[in-house]
Amino acid sequence: MTTTLLTGISELWTLDPAFEDAPLGASKERGAADGQIQREAALVIEDDRIAWTGPATAAPAADERIDLEGRAVLPGWVDSHTHLVFDGDRSAEFEARMAGQSYAAGGIQVTTDATRSADDHRLETLVRGRIGEAAAGGTTTLETKTGYGLTVADEARAAALAARLVAEGTLDEATFLGAHLVPSEYDGADGRPGPAEYLDLVVGPMLEQVRGSVRWIDVFCEDGAFDTAASRRVLEAGRAAGLGLRVHGNQLSGAQRGVQLAVEEHAASVDHLNHLEPADVEALAATVGRSVAPGGDPVGPGASDGLLAVDAGPTVATVLPACDLSTRAPLAPARDLLDAGAHLAIASNCNPGTSYTSAMSFCVATAVLQMHLSLAEAIRAATRGGALALRRSDVGHLGVGARADLHVLDAPAAINLAYRPGMPLTHQVWRRGRRVA
Ligand code: NIG
Repeated sequence: MTTTLLTGISELWTLDPAFEDAPLGASKERGAADGQIQREAALVIEDDRIAWTGPATAAPAADERIDLEGRAVLPGWVDSHTHLVFDGDRSAEFEARMAGQSYAAGGIQVTTDATRSADDHRLETLVRGRIGEAAAGGTTTLETKTGYGLTVADEARAAALAARLVAEGTLDEATFLGAHLVPSEYDGADGRPGPAEYLDLVVGPMLEQVRGSVRWIDVFCEDGAFDTAASRRVLEAGRAAGLGLRVHGNQLSGAQRGVQLAVEEHAASVDHLNHLEPADVEALAATVGRSVAPGGDPVGPGASDGLLAVDAGPTVATVLPACDLSTRAPLAPARDLLDAGAHLAIASNCNPGTSYTSAMSFCVATAVLQMHLSLAEAIRAATRGGALALRRSDVGHLGVGARADLHVLDAPAAINLAYRPGMPLTHQVWRRGRRVA
């Protein structure tokens, strides 16, 4: 057992759930008053966990002592929505979009073709590189999805890779997204099978093949991808297989009612949310009363004492600010969601089509500068909010017993994340009690 004392912390954002008594971010200035932000503080790590936090003047002795010289410390970012398992480049599509073309789901096929062609070693190298990039920016908990394979073998390969990375502790959560797009070989033309057959494949053999590798199932519920009925079928098959539910909803329009579906099916999160009606906002806020449940019986690897049950709790509204900018979509109404009382998460949606960045600090700055969140609300959404969306109690905060995942800023106060947007403010990153950047 090794203990490390970090001292010289000007602002320590513990976001300790022990002080939690309201929906995440429901009040603009929570934190300073209730002990969730400590000034002139210190922190002790014991192995991979937080063992103590408090005033620097009361810090206990430890095996090792590190002076952070007046820097702010946050929990590492919890990025609850990424698509890291891919090969291929879509910068030309992005450039065309910036010249006026609009985003369409069909680009997923381009990445699917490139991903199918990549050999295992290349794919794993690419994914590990992307995880490293995320960590360098302060992300310490990371979810990733399959969804660029879209055959039984290719989805199984992506899920197995993600599961291996979860098992070795490099990645945290794996999600099956076979229902990302109906691939081109299922176009129903010239005697080829059609979308109905692809859906049968996803909820049948494909799900059967991946269910032992992932904790979650997701669906792109949208015109041009999967309609409401097909999406419901995917989610219900996933639930029957013991998986937690996630939804891509209301990204390109509200036509397929992704939010309402997610709420009805008790999904843990619905993500994107660019086209919401007041009824959608209300429906999400109304799930706040649904309590999380401890433990659960996680399917697949990654089991730890920080996992909550996937089938209980609210539907978190997850907004993806970098994606909104990168697709020139209307910004998701994060302010309205918080004002209504919904639980909010911020994630990067790192993927080659709509958001090729894992920079959570940039997402947080955007949420403050353009979505009208306070700094505290944005930080909570990118830490505690993501943890709730992933049904985890061990990350997203620095309460005693939490995973020792720290983001040390090269600034005395976290407001610099928004005040100095785009500047390299990540000074150190600690994950599971070890310095990783
Ligand atoms: O979350 N919306 C669906 N999936 C991804 C985009 C995938 C792509 O275009 O490659 C997203 O934005």
